Amino acid sequence: MTYRTHHCNALRSEHSGTEVTLCGWVASRRDHGGLIFIDLRDREGITQVVFRPEENPDAAKKSHELRSEDVIRVTGKVAPRLAGTENSKLATGAIELVASALDILNAAEVLPFQLDDKVSNEDLRLTYRYLDLRRENMARNLRLRHRVVKTMRDVMDSEGFLEIETPILSKSTPEGARDFLVPSRLTPGAFYALPQAPQQYKQLLMVAGVEKYFQIARCFRDEDLRADRQPEFTQLDVEASFTTQDEILALMEKVIATVFRESKGIEIPTPFPRLTYKDAMNRFGSDKPDTRFGMEITDLGDVFRDTQFKVFRGALDNGGVVKAINASGLACITTGQIENLTELAKQAGAKGLAFIKVENGEWKSPIVKFFTDAEKAALTERLAIKEGDLILFGADKWETACETLGRVRLRVAEMLDTLKGSTALNFLWVVDFPLLAWNEEEQKWNAVHHPFTRPCAEDLPLLEAGEYGKIRAVAYDVVLNGVEIGGGSLRIHESDLQSKMFSVLGVDAEKQQLLFGHILKAFQFGAPPHGGIALGLDRLVMLIAGEDSIRDVIAFPKNNRGVEMMTQSPAEADFKQLRELYIQSTVKKAT
Ligand code: AMO
Ligand code: AMP
Repeated sequence: MTYRTHHCNALRSEHSGTEVTLCGWVASRRDHGGLIFIDLRDREGITQVVFRPEENPDAAKKSHELRSEDVIRVTGKVAPRLAGTENSKLATGAIELVASALDILNAAEVLPFQLDDKVSNEDLRLTYRYLDLRRENMARNLRLRHRVVKTMRDVMDSEGFLEIETPILSKSTPEGARDFLVPSRLTPGAFYALPQAPQQYKQLLMVAGVEKYFQIARCFRDEDLRADRQPEFTQLDVEASFTTQDEILALMEKVIATVFRESKGIEIPTPFPRLTYKDAMNRFGSDKPDTRFGMEITDLGDVFRDTQFKVFRGALDNGGVVKAINASGLACITTGQIENLTELAKQAGAKGLAFIKVENGEWKSPIVKFFTDAEKAALTERLAIKEGDLILFGADKWETACETLGRVRLRVAEMLDTLKGSTALNFLWVVDFPLLAWNEEEQKWNAVHHPFTRPCAEDLPLLEAGEYGKIRAVAYDVVLNGVEIGGGSLRIHESDLQSKMFSVLGVDAEKQQLLFGHILKAFQFGAPPHGGIALGLDRLVMLIAGEDSIRDVIAFPKNNRGVEMMTQSPAEADFKQLRELYIQSTVKKAT
């Protein structure tokens, strides 16, 4: 015996007259004066079932009890639909199943939300995720994700890479976020850290002679959550020995192009364009530039070389820059909107956001009175200023001015609806990242990627000279439509250079041994030159699916407070569990 003979997307006109059995969920029920029509749904599709009282009174009687999402099994004969009642939108729309027997396998309660509606309450969707996942687009996303992962595995396998699992209960490896810790019962007072990435293990696999490693790897980072960030997420993690930056980029282009071909039927042109970090910042004010629209940032240092406007003068005299974007067509901006943009600029560290509105042939601005005619003429030419334009200025340290205008540029594009209807897929590589960045708050140098990143060979003298801010890394990020979908680097494989890097990052010799002794030691036993990359799987699938949030491509995601709503985790542990782990909570309970 089998449960069913066909799935719900299988029957066509040529099956007419055949007796079949289908199983699935009642997607909808319509009562046409005693004649009951059911849309029966399984994961493959929908088939219309009709219950005719005059032909099968028992089944028809039972069908009156059916409610949405009941699970049923129906046997009957396939029949062509009456002329004029075919449904061309449905693959099975030419036929219907005339039911002779009905089993209600399990009845469903009234649902907390309708599966065909757009439900705006995401917490409600996540609480009943198993219902949410029955919806067509969510089911489609799960399939898409499967197809993407399968394609990645196929390409990596065909390139000779081995999939190797690395520990989840592991030691802290810094990727810039907080660790999730797991207390050890067997070693009282000690903790495992969940991996922020398999970074050190994959490098140790290179020391082990594996040469080509990959893993569909789960990563854990305790950080503030956003639409494109989850506390646990998945990477296509890759590492190879005796390789170059060009080889790694070409391999990833192959993976990405194949994924788009297999999952979407889209051909992505390769190689992807490359931008240096400097150019990306100068032109787009971001290390993950969205190049689907222009509105590039223009440097005005030479135009305002002799300016008397104190804001610009001050920036230039302090070794900073004056830059601007032309938000063409936004001269109609209201004072409130200008204030909002200024607030955004301030969040990026700017002191203000000077502007010029070009309306009725006039420059409306609190600052033009400080400009000479020559400066105005040069500005007009440089920014191609015309009626209806809004010019926005950043005068600051290079990073601050770039970043400010980069954020303002994205917001302005939103205000202008620049990307409405765009189907562009703009891939690019950002290369030549700086190795280190000065952290004002902590008064120390931090790694821009992670501490295992290789400095550019030509820049090694700068490391010796202590000019840390100028050292470039052999590091690269891949960006799609302004989203960072992956990043990697060539690595340090020499123990002494790695140790030097830790020292620059403020990890003293004793701490290096404690935290990283294993990798420093391993590098003394014949570590090959190596490098790699990790693609953010969730983000990539989100972009392929056209979703705005990675939560929509993860089966059971956490909400933006880090809570998995369905099971209500995290949850409190009871006293006995904690005692076994030698843990005591310091949280004071409200009584
Ligand atoms: P990185 O930290 O850049 O590199 O991570 C690689 C990619 O993973 C994705 N990603 C995330 N996706 C969802 N939620 C998050 N919280 C999250 N954090 C990162 C991004 C990112 O580009 N070990 C290195 C790789 C290497 O050097 O080989 C690493 O993890 O798309
Ligand atoms: P103030 O003279 O400080 O009132 O500034 C005049 C104009 O310049 C205002 O519109 C400010 O928003 C703007 N402004 C101030 N500082 C900066 C800056 N660093 N970059 C760009 N605009 C600025």
